Amino acid sequence: MRVLSVTSEIYPLVKTGGLADVAGALPGALAGHGIGVRTLVPGYPAVLSRLGKAKLLRRYDALFGAPAAVLAAKLGDLDLLVLDAPDFFAREGGPYGDAGGGEWPDNWKRFAALSRAGADMAAEGVKGWRPDLVHAHDWQAAMTAAYMRFGPAHAVPRVVTIHNLAFQGRFGADVFPQLGLPPEAWGVDGVEYYGGTGYLKAGLVSADAITTVSPTYADEIRSPMHGMGLDGLINGRSDRLHGILNGVDTAIWDPAADPLIAKPFSARALGGRGASRRVLETQFGLDRDDAPIFIIVSRLTWQKGMDMVMDAIDHLVGLGGKLALLGSGDHPLEGAFLAAADRHRGRVGARIGYDEPLSHLMQAGADAILIPSRFEPCGLTQLYGLRYGCVPVVARVGGLADTVIDANEAAVGAGVATGIVFPPSDPLALHGAIARTIRLHAHRPTWQAMQRAGMRADFSWTHSAARYAELFRALVRTTA
Ligand code: ADP
Ligand code: GLC
Repeated sequence: MRVLSVTSEIYPLVKTGGLADVAGALPGALAGHGIGVRTLVPGYPAVLSRLGKAKLLRRYDALFGAPAAVLAAKLGDLDLLVLDAPDFFAREGGPYGDAGGGEWPDNWKRFAALSRAGADMAAEGVKGWRPDLVHAHDWQAAMTAAYMRFGPAHAVPRVVTIHNLAFQGRFGADVFPQLGLPPEAWGVDGVEYYGGTGYLKAGLVSADAITTVSPTYADEIRSPMHGMGLDGLINGRSDRLHGILNGVDTAIWDPAADPLIAKPFSARALGGRGASRRVLETQFGLDRDDAPIFIIVSRLTWQKGMDMVMDAIDHLVGLGGKLALLGSGDHPLEGAFLAAADRHRGRVGARIGYDEPLSHLMQAGADAILIPSRFEPCGLTQLYGLRYGCVPVVARVGGLADTVIDANEAAVGAGVATGIVFPPSDPLALHGAIARTIRLHAHRPTWQAMQRAGMRADFSWTHSAARYAELFRALVRTTA
């Protein structure tokens, strides 16, 4: 089967979060199921500069008024189709905005262009290749499904994956006439969304199947509390909704063979973690002692509960813990964490920025990773933590609830506990979880049993790729 995946980020070329990890790993995982994935991505500078030899597949004189081309290139195992449209993508800054954090004002056009190119490829194929199914990720690619549905009739199934319902791609009503869609596409069953234009919404009503990145998130978004205005629509399409957990790319995240950590280790030989711990302490200016080290590797946002962490730092330090934070995001939070590190020299260290290698070292050297998200579609850092013996301390929400087994009496007794799980959006519960983690850490046999149970749990793509493959095949069968 041939699948066209459309995404706005992909590891290792361009990444702001877990979407990139998933878009980068799923093609390899699906290959084992006889599914060949080609991935359409925007030609950002970071993508074009790494392409090497690329083949020109198609030229547009004007795609949303600008010249564009589709290039094909291989990068490792990835089979990339790159939308080279300099007017839209040749800019310094991030994929969605400038270095200062502001969104690009023409994002509506940039990602409509990406989606349009994806739909064209599905309809017409390129150089003898035509997909049997199209898989679009998040709002930036969701319009692919709408362009396919309102475009020339052809029966290629469309799958839209929700990685995060908080980002919906909402624009003014004035955008609609510029999208090149027929008038009937405007309406409750089309791209109209609360009087404006909704890209994710348009994708969700146009998809043959909707997937979320964990089973619990699929349930949660059917309620107003997590549905972010789309719960009604999602409920109406619940027969097409599937929750498929993300996996870990075990070639990149493997403590026994990770070149980014100080010394390899395994569940049997946890002692090897000590070498990374010492580097971590040095890098973050933390005292060298046996106190438990908590880490945070995260976007610094409300979603991730980072404001609650700020309020829990004195408590964590008061109980004898240490904290190393790597992250970037909301500017007031960045400043607050730097100030906390200043206030708690030797006990708290903060690094503002994005540093992939350092994130590996932190997982390898720290005792626990703190993830107090208010909502979490899947979450990958708890999975990396599990694999690296860095015990996850997580809010019971979304994919966090699906992947971590709380250290309650029964689970500890049965030797199956892998972390500490606490009620979300509750500062007192977070305080309690930190205290419980520190107590558990003091009891070495229990703690090591938890580390080992987490490391032995299988969160590779094996199981989830099989579920995607099954879904894709069923869709192709019924649409054919
Ligand atoms: P989200 O996609 O919501 O940000 P995930 O947990 O799914 O959350 O994925 C986050 C990804 O980004 C993980 O691979 C994590 O290691 C990485 N990450 C987040 N912040 C940083 C950072 N400051 N430096 C390095 N990696 C980071
Ligand atoms: C989103 C979600 C995160 C998920 C990631 C990859 O960024 O916030 O929970 O793990 O997508 O699917």
